[in-house]
Amino acid sequence: MGTYKRFPLTIKKGKGSWVWSNENEKYLDAVAGIATCSIGHSNKALRRALVAQLKKLQHISNLYKIPEQEELARWLTINSCADSVFFCNSGAEANEAAIKLARKHGHINRSIDKPIILAAKESFHGRTLAAVSATGQPKYHRGFEPVVQGFEFFSYNNWQSFENLFERLEANTSRVAAVLIEPIQGEGGVVPGDIQFFKLLKDFCNKKNVLLIFDEVQSGMGRTGLLWGYEHLGVEPDVFTLAKGLGGGHAIGALLAKKSADLFKPGDHASTFGGNPFACKAGLIVGKEIQRRNLLKNVTIRGKQLETGLMEILQEFPRHLHEVRGLGLMQGLVIKNESSLTSQEIILSALREKLLVVAAGAKVVRMVPPLTITKNEINELLKRLKASLISLS
Ligand SMILES: Cc1ncc(COP(=O)(O)O)c(C=O)c1O
Repeated sequence: MGTYKRFPLTIKKGKGSWVWSNENEKYLDAVAGIATCSIGHSNKALRRALVAQLKKLQHISNLYKIPEQEELARWLTINSCADSVFFCNSGAEANEAAIKLARKHGHINRSIDKPIILAAKESFHGRTLAAVSATGQPKYHRGFEPVVQGFEFFSYNNWQSFENLFERLEANTSRVAAVLIEPIQGEGGVVPGDIQFFKLLKDFCNKKNVLLIFDEVQSGMGRTGLLWGYEHLGVEPDVFTLAKGLGGGHAIGALLAKKSADLFKPGDHASTFGGNPFACKAGLIVGKEIQRRNLLKNVTIRGKQLETGLMEILQEFPRHLHEVRGLGLMQGLVIKNESSLTSQEIILSALREKLLVVAAGAKVVRMVPPLTITKNEINELLKRLKASLISLS
């Protein structure tokens, strides 16, 4: 179907931070399947483990115990603030599960008939009907109305906007069960969460028994230099969601909850493929590689290098570029509103320089390379990005 406006490029293979086209041209990949191929393309440890898993068992129903699933759940809970995990196949699905959990919390813990979930403007939570309804960007709703009811939106990082919305709703007898929010907005333009805002939010949610849910689909699994985006903010969510980097390029999503928020009972929620041995083995290898290769340190150092280089580029193109935003290896180069340049034009120009970068809206160029990217590769990325800007100005 015509769901994607694709670039005129066919990728046939990849290795580390590089991919090769059908014409055997080599591209530096700062997209990584949009923050997904976290340990690089065709990673040896992942490849070996998955080939072995395919030979042993690929899929078995959740009707039975699955050791790989239990092992990944153990790894995730040991290394995060959560106590239990539900596995699914994508970010949107993980958020769907979170939305159901939030509504259940509203019903059983707060006796709310029609629980409201607050989400941020410019957020992105996925394309299924409930996840897109929770997404604070009307352009994604258009043509698919009526959206799912029960979502209201405040301005990200803006405490006044949050408080006003909450008070207006509750004065109107609507009652809030949960807040769903990204610790750093991705699709919405690479906007890191404000520490002060998140501290206030956490205290407020605690006081009101409102479930605090973080969407870590893009920020999780080391992308920001810490394993979880919430660690930058100094607050722990009650619930968070994962996908993207978790499987290193394989389809897996997860909903994680603290014990107090673990409300699902048998029959409440399910997934045929979710948590199968193959996907969970991929997640386990990614987690172990992040630890074994000390990738969090690499993300921090390479993220700084990337940010510093982008700042230099920013100064060379003051007419067009506004700022550099991000955390670790999730960086955005922001184009000035008054500039006629668009992220799409820069992306196409970068493509001619054999560099893959991705948009986060019309005015932000996003870079989310593999967490394994090297010093020389970051230098190369910056060189190619600069060349693509020179050829446009
Ligand atoms: C923060 C966030 N949540 C959810 C999603 C949806 O994930 P998926 O495409 O795996 O459904 C995305 C995808 O970009 C995302 O960035």
